[in-house]
Amino acid sequence: MSDRTPLIAGNWKLHKTIAEAEQFIQALLPRVSTAEGVDVAICPSFTALEAMVDSTRGSRVAVYAQNMHQADHGAFTGEVSAAMLTELDVGGVILGHSERRELFAETDRALAQKVPAALAAGLVPVLCVGETEEEREAGDTERKLRHQVQEGLARVDAERLGEVVIAYEPIWAIGTGLVATPEQAQDAIAFVRALVAGRSREQAERVRILYGGSVKADNAAELLALPDVDGALVGGASLDPESFAEIVAAALEG
Ligand code: PGA
Repeated sequence: MSDRTPLIAGNWKLHKTIAEAEQFIQALLPRVSTAEGVDVAICPSFTALEAMVDSTRGSRVAVYAQNMHQADHGAFTGEVSAAMLTELDVGGVILGHSERRELFAETDRALAQKVPAALAAGLVPVLCVGETEEEREAGDTERKLRHQVQEGLARVDAERLGEVVIAYEPIWAIGTGLVATPEQAQDAIAFVRALVAGRSREQAERVRILYGGSVKADNAAELLALPDVDGALVGGASLDPESFAEIVAAALEG
């Protein structure tokens, strides 16, 4: 067992109005109140962030955003800055989710700026990386991960690398019900940790690396018990308070 605190983060994507988010959180809080030793975060849409920060105050649940812009301000219609998130007491932000990369043209170049901008503002960046099915079949998984990790972390000072969270999410496993095998998840995540060690061995021991992609209550324990897996980024199963709480409980045991 490492002494890294596991993190279970729920990525709600484009789900839940404020009213629905309130219902969820009232059901979740009593279910995770005793989950000491596990960090728990929910990632609602921008419009529900403030309400969720208010409703989780004093609890063990943190509130993270799903994206942010790298600039402090400017002519970037539809975007939000790190300062706009910290003003709401948001604690972190998902960056470079594969849906943002694929559907909204998020680039590694922008991520190289977003990750240090989030850190500078005091937000926990959750940098998402992962290969497509074609890349895995072509034996290109490590090349893709190396590129995404090195680019995304390029402008982060070596001594701050341990403050970043990295989420390894094989794209073929996201929302498909196809979960990586324990061996695939462990190998990829150990590889990502070795990439961080290339910058700083000490920080590589600190950095938390999550697995994401069809994590459910019934497969979480096996994944979370893997030596290099420090938690999970959960999509579909995070929308239901009961299944999300079961995944948090699995992290307690892992
Ligand atoms: P999923 O999504 O758990 O529904 O596969 C994970 C993610 O996209 O972060």
